[in-house]
Amino acid sequence: MDKKIILVTGASSGIGEAVADQLAREHHTVVLTGRNRKKIEAAAREMASRGQRVVAIPGDMTVEEDVRAIVAESLKTFGAVNAVVHSAGVFRMNRLEATPTEEWRQVLDTNLTSTYFLIKYLLPHFYKQGAGHVIALSSIAGKIGFPQETAYCASKWGLMGFLAALRLEAAPKGVKVTAILPGATLTPAWNTFGGKLPRESMMAAQTVAEAVSYALSQPAEANVDEIHLMPSRDPFGPAGKA
Ligand SMILES: NC(=O)c1ccc[n+]([C@@H]2O[C@H](COP(=O)([O-])OP(=O)(O)OC[C@H]3O[C@@H](n4cnc5c(N)ncnc54)[C@H](OP(=O)(O)O)[C@@H]3O)[C@@H](O)[C@H]2O)c1
Repeated sequence: MDKKIILVTGASSGIGEAVADQLAREHHTVVLTGRNRKKIEAAAREMASRGQRVVAIPGDMTVEEDVRAIVAESLKTFGAVNAVVHSAGVFRMNRLEATPTEEWRQVLDTNLTSTYFLIKYLLPHFYKQGAGHVIALSSIAGKIGFPQETAYCASKWGLMGFLAALRLEAAPKGVKVTAILPGATLTPAWNTFGGKLPRESMMAAQTVAEAVSYALSQPAEANVDEIHLMPSRDPFGPAGKA
């Protein structure tokens, strides 16, 4: 596979952390971003000590100015960005009538509006270089509705619509668009929902990272539109509602 410069959001935890590690081990250059400066800097230091080419650029994906600065700083540091893996996201479970407006906004801002900010600032660069790859972490909740997940499902269905439109809009300019739709994956996101969930049937974050790597490794003439990746046991049980 060609070695790429790849921006990974949500790189401080879970799937994004596994993706950043996987891509660095494959000798891609990786920009790690997330709000937790300490965590991404520590991860970047460890990767650099293994000889990997990485940088940590902290920021909040719901703040447009932060996203603009993350993209600008990535381009300044490495001169180009070839792909982005957008894994930053939040999962909240609540009955609709008990969902505070603030929580609704947080889920939509983090999972959907952040994507608009990120792609808006990256796209001119992708168009200029005549190539680029947008990979976003959607969810099985971007195809199926789950009770008590109205905000989360709305954000992920919205993301699927965004990606479908972008795929057609950007393809003539050489830009690929891939949606990754995992089911339940064992990450810190589940900590708040804890003991009730059968963790042994969840997928490892590394499995999702390998799916991202597969999408990135396809030749220029092939685009992976969507990858559905579900736990093989009890995919739609309580643990399948991610
Ligand atoms: N785990 C699952 O079962 C599952 C299933 C399907 C889809 N997904 C999707 O996969 C993605 C990653 O989930 P995960 O399970 O890996 O969750 P996680 O372990 O909780 O990680 C979430 C990441 O998002 C970042 N993040 C959250 N809010 C942010 C903000 N405002 N600005 C910047 N970064 C922010 C966090 O970093 P900071 O706290 O450092 O900002 C963290 O790195 C999400 O989009 C999620 O919806 C997960």
